[in-house]
Amino acid sequence: MKRPFAQLVGTGRYTPSKVHDNAYFEKILDTSDQWIRERTGISERRISEPHETIAYMGTKACMQVLNDAGVPVEDVDAIIVATASPDRLLPSTACDLQAVLGAKNASAFDLQAACSGFIYGLTVAEGMIAAGNAENILVVGGERLSSMIDYTDRTVAILLGDGVGATLVRPADGERGILSTYIKSDGTLGDLLYRPGGGASHPPDEELIRTRGFYMRMAGREVFKSAVLCMSEAVDQALKRAGLTGDDIDLLIPHQANIRIIEATAKHASVPMDKVYVNIDRYGNTSSASIPIALDECVREGRIGEGSVVLFVAFGGGFTWGSVALRW
Ligand code: ACO
Repeated sequence: MKRPFAQLVGTGRYTPSKVHDNAYFEKILDTSDQWIRERTGISERRISEPHETIAYMGTKACMQVLNDAGVPVEDVDAIIVATASPDRLLPSTACDLQAVLGAKNASAFDLQAACSGFIYGLTVAEGMIAAGNAENILVVGGERLSSMIDYTDRTVAILLGDGVGATLVRPADGERGILSTYIKSDGTLGDLLYRPGGGASHPPDEELIRTRGFYMRMAGREVFKSAVLCMSEAVDQALKRAGLTGDDIDLLIPHQANIRIIEATAKHASVPMDKVYVNIDRYGNTSSASIPIALDECVREGRIGEGSVVLFVAFGGGFTWGSVALRW
């Protein structure tokens, strides 16, 4: 087994207090609490207020991380924010977060890999540590997906929520740390989960507003099928690269997109559901934030202790997918 280059040393999260439960959607859409719970596993999701930007929520989460790790903010030398719903298109959300946090000695940049963004962020951070480019890297997954919701589209609106999770990646000093990473994408399938406009290829204009082209669109059934296949492949790759089997996993923390996708992934990995962390019922799909929010809950609830072998796996728009195996 590889000696780790990098370890995760602290976790934090911020989730808005405003809740949209399934009854909220029953009032505005042709849907039902029963359909949503049975088809997705979601009961409620958190929705940000205007002041709860990703930079604001991310600062709160990062302060928890730094307190946990005992690292002063001046020692942070890189900030990676994985997001598909940045606060602004320019500058990066990472730079806005850096300013609020006061991490004046850091480099900061955003990374767009949709729901796989946190996995991609950990992979980049591990590489920066291995190359000797940084020693204290905040990896943040943050989303305000409510800003992309078309509240007339029942196939997407019920799925998404807001929030931020974060961790600090540092050089490993022993057996604890990242054991393997795997990332992959297939850009030919991009139009199955996308936002038609708002970027440089179709800047905001009246037509975009009229056609509701700035909201997220998704071919749910196709995304579902690919998610199961790709997350299964990612599980296999992370285990193989780390020299592990499903029996070695103490806790599987999958991206929280749909309870049926989670169950299929766990079955493929031969990990029983009592070793799978699920919080989709409370948050819905928070894209790049879902794994770091879940990780923080697991650490604070004692589901993960020193030496626990943990597997992250995710799939999202792009398509992108990936996995990380680590010893906590
Ligand atoms: N309430 C009631 N009925 C609904 C709803 C709803 N909210 N949404 C869809 N339906 C209907 C459909 O119109 C369809 O009706 P029809 O048979 O009359 O045509 C029926 O339910 C079945 O639709 P399916 O799309 O086949 O339903 P499915 O079981 O696949 O569930 C879902 C839909 C929940 C979207 C599922 O496909 C899914 O979870 N897909 C993956 C989502 C995902 O992971 N997204 C990626 C992440 S997002 C990101 O990257 C930011």
